[in-house]
Amino acid sequence: HDLTHANTLGLPCRAERFAAPADMTALRHVLQQACAQGWRLTLVGGGSNLILPTSLEGLVVQPALSHWWLERQGENVRVHVGAGVEWHPLVMTLAHRGLWGIENLALIPGRCGAAPIQNIGAYGVELSEVLEAVHLLFLDDGRKVTLTPAECAFGYRDSIFKRELAGRVVIIGLTLRLTRQARPRLDYGDLSARVGPRPSALDVAEAVCAIRREKLPDPGQLGNAGSFFKNPVVARAVADRLLARWPDMPHFNVDAERVKLAAGWLIDRCGLKGWRDGHFGVHERQALVLVHLGGGDADELLTFAEGVAQRVHSHFGVTLEREPRKA
Ligand code: EPU
Repeated sequence: HDLTHANTLGLPCRAERFAAPADMTALRHVLQQACAQGWRLTLVGGGSNLILPTSLEGLVVQPALSHWWLERQGENVRVHVGAGVEWHPLVMTLAHRGLWGIENLALIPGRCGAAPIQNIGAYGVELSEVLEAVHLLFLDDGRKVTLTPAECAFGYRDSIFKRELAGRVVIIGLTLRLTRQARPRLDYGDLSARVGPRPSALDVAEAVCAIRREKLPDPGQLGNAGSFFKNPVVARAVADRLLARWPDMPHFNVDAERVKLAAGWLIDRCGLKGWRDGHFGVHERQALVLVHLGGGDADELLTFAEGVAQRVHSHFGVTLEREPRKA
């Protein structure tokens, strides 16, 4: 099965076996089959935060549970979504219905099941703020478990699904808590300048889409996985030392001891924006995004990314950590 068009980086990948179960019975069936046959199991969502090797042994499972429904509770609304629901169309549908909570997360590619793994976040909002529960199956015994946000141990681009539960569970759905009460979150960047005085949830979602379209390449046109590195969090003393030399360096206080830097700015300041080598490049409008120009593969991408990280390290002494995950 060819997965080249099932990952937004457009990396060539052939899987030995592939299944896209559309309901719980079918999902349980393929998982049991993989276990009985001793197949290596790889789970994929929308393939938008994934680095696929040229060949994948065993079975690739892409959960296609695509049901969703609303449960009203006065001003609040619970949204139950299957792991296979595409994130961005869901955001637009809910914003259109006047529900607030995820409008700042418009145009993030991928499916709902993958959203909690990296705790998707943009324009001042993280998924963890609106999440009520994550529903999953354990791969070893098939038991169904629901986790609260606290149990998910969410952090910046981080969760228990990248750590203790990595490779042990399949996420089958989410419960989100949205509200009808207007609560625009416009403090990030120039978002507030992009909307009128009393914006609707849909106005905010559309403004976010416009900003993202200006900076981020459309994976349909140019292979990419969004931000390729996390924004590094450094000790305050490190940030102060860098600020003494580069007073215009963007930085955000995380807490009393830690400061978050902008990886895109660091890469940009190394003169790497628009840099190309072989089949990969640094995007010309947002240096945090690496792009696949076509004809490359995962190994070449990882070498290219290492080159970028090395230059940032020798220039600023800051270590960049990769964001998309290797399958
Ligand atoms: N900057 C530059 N040059 C660049 C890129 C950025 O100087 O080439 C500067 C900007 O001017 C700004 C700062 O760096 O002062 C931060 O840039 P931006 O607001 O574009 O956001 P980011 O930190 O680069 C993060 C997320 C994005 C998210 C935006 C908006 C991470 C790793 N990335 O990017 O998430 O959309 O904020 O909230 O946290 C993703 O994860 O795939 C992603 C796109």
